[in-house]
Amino acid sequence: MLKLGILISGRGSNMQAIIDACGEPDFPARIVLVLSNRPEAGGLKRAAEAGIPIAVVDHKAYASRSDFETAMSEHLAAAGADLVVCAGFMRVLTATFLDRWRDRAINIHPSLLPSFRGTHVHEQALAAGVKISGCTVHVVRADVDAGPILGQAAVPVLPGDTPDSLAARILKAEHALYPLCIRGLGEGWLRLDGDRVIDTRPAPEAAQAPLIVP
Ligand code: GRF
Repeated sequence: MLKLGILISGRGSNMQAIIDACGEPDFPARIVLVLSNRPEAGGLKRAAEAGIPIAVVDHKAYASRSDFETAMSEHLAAAGADLVVCAGFMRVLTATFLDRWRDRAINIHPSLLPSFRGTHVHEQALAAGVKISGCTVHVVRADVDAGPILGQAAVPVLPGDTPDSLAARILKAEHALYPLCIRGLGEGWLRLDGDRVIDTRPAPEAAQAPLIVP
């Protein structure tokens, strides 16, 4: 059973999707901590209501990024987390954190990486005129939005889309993809070998055929 430490900064809808998945009897993970760097993050209330331990590690209270990251690591380790799940966590993680959680920290990004890294992702996608966008779950590396890809889900970009309408369509796909990838890691059919991701599901189920959410 995977023990998840979820990092959030905001409303926590991906966190909620993972909470819901953990309620399924056969889901191979449970949440041991939800940690926010923002005391006002709406997701904290949702987690507390679900009976999950919460913590706030406010980055503004630390003299350096390294002190902030060490404090987060200590909370996660004390809670017994073995997989760190970034779900709308808005701080860049550096070696202080990532060396300790090497291969054990994952993130969701609202584009089909390697396209459209960073911020203003939906604006970037609309400006590029792509007809398909989506989301990516990847292992976190120091290079932002560039770690090994565990899974992707695609959605259409429709005429008349705005950044908000595209974001909403992709968010629905995120809520399906993130629990699926965590399930894969927990059940062992999805794993990392160095920087290579191995998905042992038989085709056509395999992750090489991306999950499409209409
Ligand atoms: C999601 O779109 C996620 O991909 C991005 O930030 C957003 C967080 O949304 N990294 P929520 O807090 O999970 O609702």
